[in-house]
Amino acid sequence: MFYRLLIRFVSSINTNFVHKFAYLYTYSLCRLCRFIPISLSLPLNPVDVIGLHFPNPVGLAAGFDRNGKLLCCSEPSGFGFIEIGTVNVDAQIEADDKILNVVKNLEKAAGKYQNKNRQQQWGVNLGSLENTVSDRTIADYVQGMQLFWSHADYFVINLSRPDSPARVLNPDMEKLYELLQNIKQQHGRLTEKKGKSIPVVIKTAVDYINNEHINNVLLLAKDCGIDGAILAFEAWPDIHAVCERVRLFAEQIESFPFIVVGGIRSAKDANRVLNAGASLVQIYTGLVQDGPLQTRKMIDSLGGLTGERDVAP
Ligand SMILES: Cc1cc2nc3c(=O)[nH]c(=O)nc-3n(C[C@H](O)[C@H](O)[C@H](O)COP(=O)(O)O)c2cc1C
Repeated sequence: MFYRLLIRFVSSINTNFVHKFAYLYTYSLCRLCRFIPISLSLPLNPVDVIGLHFPNPVGLAAGFDRNGKLLCCSEPSGFGFIEIGTVNVDAQIEADDKILNVVKNLEKAAGKYQNKNRQQQWGVNLGSLENTVSDRTIADYVQGMQLFWSHADYFVINLSRPDSPARVLNPDMEKLYELLQNIKQQHGRLTEKKGKSIPVVIKTAVDYINNEHINNVLLLAKDCGIDGAILAFEAWPDIHAVCERVRLFAEQIESFPFIVVGGIRSAKDANRVLNAGASLVQIYTGLVQDGPLQTRKMIDSLGGLTGERDVAP
């Protein structure tokens, strides 16, 4: 209630500051939690998917903690996983201070857990500023994986930008195949070299009207050995429409895990999307609008609801 009043006040003064305010508020609260005597460990409602063990199925979507600064104190937020980025790497030039800063934040956060068992999973959402599918684009993603290999739990190949080759109505499937196949090959080489495997998923937006072609994009990703997909539902009228589409995706593309983001505002919403076939869900706007305490409550209460999960048809 207090947070909602605050955020309403902030948006009445400057709408551009709303996200920054939500970030600062969440960050400060998480840091303050270090000084309170009660333990705020992660809500447990575990899910095993893409080769990882997630303590609960609710994650923080990319864009909120772009630089990974929240990671070192993010457990009280309750999120089972945090996705940092998008980090846009340009392989043609040396990593600049901005990117090195993200690497440092991840290293620092990982250092805090050195002798402790960290349950929260950390994803790194990687991007390329190249609009076309080219050797340069592939090199950007591979460079990104190399930079973050030591501490990332999973990688996201972000294809959700409006100009992404996966998003256009009639994507060039050959080019897309070339992109994903090449990324997977280089990922295989890195796995061998580093002696540790890190799952890779793609993130693609699912528009309300033109979304049929996404089936082919997902099938292609699956064929290329990608571990799953983050489906970002944008401008959908309500959560029921999202669930219907998720159910169709799950029916048509078997054994390919989905992480669904977009329009999830409550534990009921999250539960519906999970029932429809998503393995995990992510939240962004809900955290900005309702604040970290309400979001934590929502993640806590999801554990109670999942016992009542209806069987997906
Ligand atoms: C201000 C803002 C910045 C975002 N930045 C990114 C980003 O850098 N990378 C990305 O993959 N998604 C980004 N997103 C998209 C979110 O991760 C998410 O897919 C989208 O907001 C839908 O979820 P929601 O309805 O819970 O907000 C951003 C969203 C917002 C509102």
